[in-house]
Amino acid sequence: MIKNNAWFLLLLLSLMACKQRETIDPVAETFELNVPAYFGPYNDRIPEDNPITEEGFQLGRKLFYEPRLSKDNTMTCSFCHQQEKAFTDRRAVSIGVDGLPGKVSAMSLVNLMWSDNFTWNGKDPSIEEQALEPIQNPIELHQSLEAAIEKLEQANYQDDFEAAFGDPEITSEKIGKALAQFERALISANSKYDQYLRGEYQPTASERRGIELFYTHPIPGQLRGGNCGDCHLGPRTSGALEGFRGFHNNGIDSEETMDAGLYEVTGNPADSGKFKAPSLRNIAITPPYMHDGRFKSLEEVLDHYNTGIKRSPTLDILLKEGSNEIVNPNEPVDLGLTDQEKEDIIAFLHMLTDEDFVSNPRFSNPFTNAE
Ligand code: HEC
Ligand code: HEC
Repeated sequence: MIKNNAWFLLLLLSLMACKQRETIDPVAETFELNVPAYFGPYNDRIPEDNPITEEGFQLGRKLFYEPRLSKDNTMTCSFCHQQEKAFTDRRAVSIGVDGLPGKVSAMSLVNLMWSDNFTWNGKDPSIEEQALEPIQNPIELHQSLEAAIEKLEQANYQDDFEAAFGDPEITSEKIGKALAQFERALISANSKYDQYLRGEYQPTASERRGIELFYTHPIPGQLRGGNCGDCHLGPRTSGALEGFRGFHNNGIDSEETMDAGLYEVTGNPADSGKFKAPSLRNIAITPPYMHDGRFKSLEEVLDHYNTGIKRSPTLDILLKEGSNEIVNPNEPVDLGLTDQEKEDIIAFLHMLTDEDFVSNPRFSNPFTNAE
């Protein structure tokens, strides 16, 4: 009976898949994504009107490396999001096409499917919409979408758009969709930590303690923990999905000095100083750290969480109360980790580096690498 049900379910699912294919009328084969089961289901993370296809992915990849998207044909998305640096630029703040510095640090582009709000303060609600923003932003590529479309037409991109979307017309909507397909495929899931989760790697004693500490909420006198996994959740180590729940004030500033953060987007003062809790995948190769790149090393980050938390009205409760010591509300928050424990957590953070991700030829510049 159970077996019959299973077959029926399978049949139903394949019928549904066919039905979905019909409604979106894809022009190409569906795309194979290498997503481990412990990342959670992802089919509902891909919008129905923008499934990933090989042709769409390849067009997105070209656009990501296409200097024609910039004002003077000198800059690309990949200028600030470099594959070998896990799609960051290792600058505290990035420099745009006119040589002007921005206010924030370029973000790593990784496992973006499991995110609902993009950029540090969450201003962009979809990857499709986000993709059009840097093209026009005066401190990024600084070009109108009309000018970008005209240049792509002159460079004969029509065939690529036809292959990807079944129609040669170049529109900004399709540029956003193609870039988003490429970006959703940027999945990092072969770090040492993944190999450990799949039973293929034996962690060192320090790495093992680091994993425990990272994911444990401390209880003074009973359970030692680093509290990190309370905000950098699960094996993806990224913030919560629903709405702005993945945004927190992690105590880097006092009320007087803090940046607006999410407040700028919601207009709610209770959101002051809250930023997206980013994925920590490949974090060892993406210094400097935080939205303004203020910390140069993981040691500085750990010192911040251990003894540098600044109290403010919007400081996250998980940091106010999560400690290995009994917290006195009149004293600075002290997480109470030993030097060895800080080193152990850093050893775990190094386990999140994924050599395959940063060298995968599929994510590389298609104009210099045809693979
Ligand atoms: C001049 C450097 C620069 C260029 C060029 C650039 N970016 Fe970015 N990118 C950034 C910075 C800085 C941020 C953080 C912005 C913020 O928080 O306001 C960012 C954030 C993002 C994010 C958000 C990631 C997240 O987890 O929320 C995505 C996606 C992204 N960029 C994609 C692109 C694409 C696609 C292009 C090309 C069309 C591009 N970027 C061009 C610097 C750049
Ligand atoms: C209350 C939620 C919260 C907790 C707990 C927390 N973090 Fe964070 N973390 C954040 C937020 C939010 C940011 C981004 C803040 C910013 O850029 O201003 C962040 C940023 C970081 C960054 C920099 C990321 C980057 O791309 O620049 C690192 C590294 C980091 N956290 C590690 C840790 C470690 C290790 C722990 C445990 C000791 C921890 N976090 C605990 C919320 C949290």
